[in-house]
Amino acid sequence: MQHHVYICLVLIHILCAMLWVGGMLFMTLMLIPALRGLKDPQLMRTLMQSVGKLYHRWGWGSLIVLLITGFLLLDYRGISHTQLASAAFWHSPFGTTLAWKLSFFLLVVVFSVVHDVSAIRSAKRENPTPEQRATDRKVASWLGRVTLLLSLGIVVLGIMLVRGNPWL
Ligand code: HEM
Repeated sequence: MQHHVYICLVLIHILCAMLWVGGMLFMTLMLIPALRGLKDPQLMRTLMQSVGKLYHRWGWGSLIVLLITGFLLLDYRGISHTQLASAAFWHSPFGTTLAWKLSFFLLVVVFSVVHDVSAIRSAKRENPTPEQRATDRKVASWLGRVTLLLSLGIVVLGIMLVRGNPWL
């Protein structure tokens, strides 16, 4: 792989990471507090549903691109399929950091699926009671927080893949 292709892949990988993590930070730190401040639950629900739909599309798109570019970047670093299948690789500092990163990535995918399923279920519910709405909101908010923390962890592990893991 030529060097300029590698630079492009890193750029795409980082742009997708920005889109995924930046989107979550924007919603948590700006959009949700701003909507809460309007004190209009119906407007908040409508806006959160339409922003959620867009984030769903862009978010899943970026996770798929992160996975593809991630494996291409490993290939550039000379880490082949045979190496990925060897126990020695996963015991090296790079392999251990990558194992943590991939485990966090898998958890992010699982939490995102659960988040999507519960959002669809709550949107489909006819005439929900205020208690059901409050529970749905709480579940969505906790799933979102855990996914954000795991994603920030992935960013730290990504940085350590390139610059070394100080704990290994
Ligand atoms: C939510 C998912 C992900 C995020 C937020 C993310 C984020 C990052 C970040 C911030 C870097 C650091 C770049 C730098 O410091 O120069 C990085 C590097 C890297 N990531 Fe990811 N990543 C994700 C998923 C993946 C996956 C699934 C793989 C699969 C193997 C992967 C493989 C890599 C590799 C190999 C590098 C080193 C790139 C290089 O050679 O410079 N990443 N990632």
